[in-house]
Amino acid sequence: MTISSPRPLLTIVLAAGKGMRMKSDVPKVMHRVAGRTLLGHVLALAATAGTSASAVVVGPDMPAVRTEVTHLAPAAVVFEQTQQRGTADAVLAARQGLQGHSGDVLVMFADTPLITADTVRRLVRALDQGAEVAVLGFHAKDATGYGRLVTDGLLAAGVANLLAIREHKDATPAERQIDFCNSGVMAFRTPNLLSLLDQIGTNNASGEYYLTDVIAIMRGQGRRAVAVAGVEEEMLGVNTRAHLAVAEGVFQRRARVHAMAEGATLIDPDTVWFAFDTRVGRDVVIEPNVFFGPGVSIGDRAIIRAHSHLTGASVEAGAEVGPFARLRPGARIGEGAKIGNFVEVKNAVFERGAKANHLAYIGDAHVGSKANIGAGTIFCNYDGFFKHRTEVGAGAFIGSNASLVAPVRIGEGAFIASGSVITKNVDADSLALARAVQENRPGWAAKFRALMSSRKNKR
Ligand code: UD1
Ligand code: MG
Repeated sequence: MTISSPRPLLTIVLAAGKGMRMKSDVPKVMHRVAGRTLLGHVLALAATAGTSASAVVVGPDMPAVRTEVTHLAPAAVVFEQTQQRGTADAVLAARQGLQGHSGDVLVMFADTPLITADTVRRLVRALDQGAEVAVLGFHAKDATGYGRLVTDGLLAAGVANLLAIREHKDATPAERQIDFCNSGVMAFRTPNLLSLLDQIGTNNASGEYYLTDVIAIMRGQGRRAVAVAGVEEEMLGVNTRAHLAVAEGVFQRRARVHAMAEGATLIDPDTVWFAFDTRVGRDVVIEPNVFFGPGVSIGDRAIIRAHSHLTGASVEAGAEVGPFARLRPGARIGEGAKIGNFVEVKNAVFERGAKANHLAYIGDAHVGSKANIGAGTIFCNYDGFFKHRTEVGAGAFIGSNASLVAPVRIGEGAFIASGSVITKNVDADSLALARAVQENRPGWAAKFRALMSSRKNKR
């Protein structure tokens, strides 16, 4: 296969459909797989698949979708499709973008989050053989709901001559037997794509403008169309919550295989849940039932023990977290540091070798190296209105059940007595005791018991 010189590629991502079958107040493409919206997955794909310009078609009253595009693909041009009249109508909403473009055009659906960049590049390359459109297809185990690819024979390995696409609702019983389905991704290298799209009508079971009708129109004009086969796992289009769960499962399986291939041990891979951007180093051990939200990186040789939940956190080399730990955004656990069971850390840095082994809340803080935070310690960071910071110096020892009322600084090497409520700064190497002084009364308990039981006997 010859590889053409790179030519401009305009990617149009269709994200305007409401997705009624999700039964949601949130637009379909804002639902998430591995912590990233369906739209976000597709925008990321567009960015790595050789796109030179991108356009996203959104619906009216979808401010969240617009914000997502601005955030994730600031260079993309946003077009609004005023009424959801079908996928061809959606592409035509980007008319201005198409008018200003000469080169290839790639159409992708924002509800198809698992397609890989290699697959898209393979599709675009298929145009080098003279086809004016290439459609990415797959053989479905259950083709229900998908458009069927009507072909008449193979042109090359995995490339078929495409005659038409028949939507499920419009297909004859014989056509419904076809298991070769449309993924929704189409690559065009054709003059006047707009005039082809303008010929699409609504004479079908849904009364919609089907993008898929462009194939029969092109064939009618003697233009070449091909279907390129990909693997089913990538092509899942999310129309329901059940599809969303299947997509999540596929993503997780890939992420687990990837983490293990990069040198991490997952004792029970099926119970570890990754986000789209989780980074895991070599010789990391992850015990069962661990959940990673977005923005987590785990350094080499770290151990994440069972039942821990991490989001927006970094765990550096050789650190140990859990079991039952919660790391929230802004937690940085330094080299060899230790966060034990029932410890929550938020927006706090633990320097090298610092420890909080049991039952503690550490928020908005800096904990110096080798400091020890005792069981039951609470960093009181919030006064109901504002958050305040706590500094714990290197080597400080915070006794069990202390409350550090922020803003407060504990000097290096200082000792905080157990049960203290610390409201004032503590100098380095000092002891702070902030609890009632203990008073012992010899014999008091025996006398008290005698008095009370004699009263009780008199009743
Ligand atoms: C579509 C295809 C079908 C294919 C399947 C793959 C058509 C007519 N059908 O069906 O052949 O097998 O995807 O998953 O193209 N959208 C808009 N505006 C609209 C309608 C849809 O922007 O007016 C967007 C949606 O947000 C979605 C995408 O286009 O991202 C596909 O729409 P959807 O309604 O999910 O089409 P399917 O029924 O899945
Ligand atoms: Mg769909």
